[in-house]
Amino acid sequence: MWKPPERIKHDLPDARWPDRNEAVGSKLFSPLEVGSVTLAQRTWVPAMVPWRATEEGFVTEEILEWYERFAHGRPGAIVVEATGIRDIPSGPLLRVGHDRFVPGLSELVETVRRASGDETRLFIQIIDFLTIRRRPDPEKFLRRYLRLTDRHRRAVGSELSDDQVREALLELPDGALDDVLDERELESLRFGYRERVTDTHLEHIRELPEILPGLFADAAERAAEAGFDGVELHYAHAYTMASFLSARNRRADGYGGSRENRVRLPLEVFSEVRRRVGDGYTVGCRFLANECIEGGSGVDDAVFFGRELARAGMDFLSLSRGGKFEDAKQPKIGWAAYPYTGPSGYECMPTAISDARGPFGRNLQAVARVRAGVRAAGLDTPIVVAGGICTFDQAEAALTDGTADVVAAARQSLADPDWFRKIRLGRGDEVRRCVYTNYCEGLDQKHKQVTCQLWDREALDEPGLRRSVDGRRRLVAPAWRDSSDR
Ligand SMILES: Cc1cc2nc3c(=O)[nH]c(=O)nc-3n(C[C@H](O)[C@H](O)[C@H](O)COP(=O)(O)O)c2cc1C
Ligand code: SF4
Repeated sequence: MWKPPERIKHDLPDARWPDRNEAVGSKLFSPLEVGSVTLAQRTWVPAMVPWRATEEGFVTEEILEWYERFAHGRPGAIVVEATGIRDIPSGPLLRVGHDRFVPGLSELVETVRRASGDETRLFIQIIDFLTIRRRPDPEKFLRRYLRLTDRHRRAVGSELSDDQVREALLELPDGALDDVLDERELESLRFGYRERVTDTHLEHIRELPEILPGLFADAAERAAEAGFDGVELHYAHAYTMASFLSARNRRADGYGGSRENRVRLPLEVFSEVRRRVGDGYTVGCRFLANECIEGGSGVDDAVFFGRELARAGMDFLSLSRGGKFEDAKQPKIGWAAYPYTGPSGYECMPTAISDARGPFGRNLQAVARVRAGVRAAGLDTPIVVAGGICTFDQAEAALTDGTADVVAAARQSLADPDWFRKIRLGRGDEVRRCVYTNYCEGLDQKHKQVTCQLWDREALDEPGLRRSVDGRRRLVAPAWRDSSDR
């Protein structure tokens, strides 16, 4: 992963843990209405893909155990990982693009209800993404994938046959291809082909505004049928809906350019979802407080989007940051680009090696501005903040100073799925603290089963323990032994 050039090593923020009385009386552990459901507390485990679905996108025993483990910590809400809305092969990514996925998802809902004593509300993040291919072997790319154009022919000899043009391109000295291939062809060669929402010369991209509202609405209906308490529309990071919101979206069909146009499809998707699931079902979205890329949407855009999405009737707005393809590192040949490898990826999941600002609460200021904008418009939509939050004081301050209404923690919850509960019980000194090295994110990048370095080699001889495919790691955190006092 990219790291800021300053490479300043940050210690974990000092943790002062409250006693039980203080915890119980805190805002963090006070209830909140989110749409039609009530969170028992304002703690939230945001979406985290653990790479445990089957190749066909079905729920597995490993997935059930993953969410069961988070549910034992009884957070206010858990958001199930990014789940694909289309009925297309997507590798081991969870899917909700057909009714056949509903029974497995229902089992997941039941598992979380049971494990949390029905204290945790369960949402599912639903996602659409465009095609991205692996970085090709240059020979294969030039011999097979490159669509020849006159520009290529002119560069090496217009009298040559197509095969000869391809061979001639292969023979070109290093760097010469820069003048022969256009920008997108070079990207396909060096990073792998990647579709964009602005590729309106492609019919299926041009038609996204017609098809996505229905696909999201179908998926939301299935989520409701499976028993989820609500859905989170994935409008963040590197995926289709975030690309519509992006300032880089220059579509000329009324869905790009101005902020009003860029938010149009996200609003139309929401409106169709709402029409299908009804007012009584919780529907929110996750979007970016800042894209953190050159020419991308910034905080002012996010304030505008927040207001529009809230005004339309979203039940919550969850704010993330960065995580884009545009500044991702070049992948190795045979691998696909990954949107968390560049500076914007760093902004999404910052590590302890950082710049002067450090990794803790890096998204707070931007989120506070979005919330202020939403409140100034007279709307009380709950705002969820995430990013390097790992102490009670940080969380409580974010709630009391008006930054947010709910505090989400991904990696700290992975490091210790019981951490919120330990704090509430006045036993914060037992929290296993995330060290923000991103070992977990490294596994995610390789599409390997995600675990935490702090516990995945612990008690491997536990009876019945489920291990990673390589047999070396446990897949969920060990139980909190002394958990009798709930
Ligand atoms: C392994 C892993 C998988 C993630 N998967 C998703 C995802 O599916 N959807 C999403 O919106 N964010 C995803 N994220 C981002 C987190 O939800 C969160 O925004 C980010 O890690 C910053 O919060 P933290 O500092 O509390 O970890 C993922 C993060 C990690 C570490
Ligand atoms: S592997 Fe564990 S300790 Fe390291 S960043 Fe991820 S959750 Fe935190």
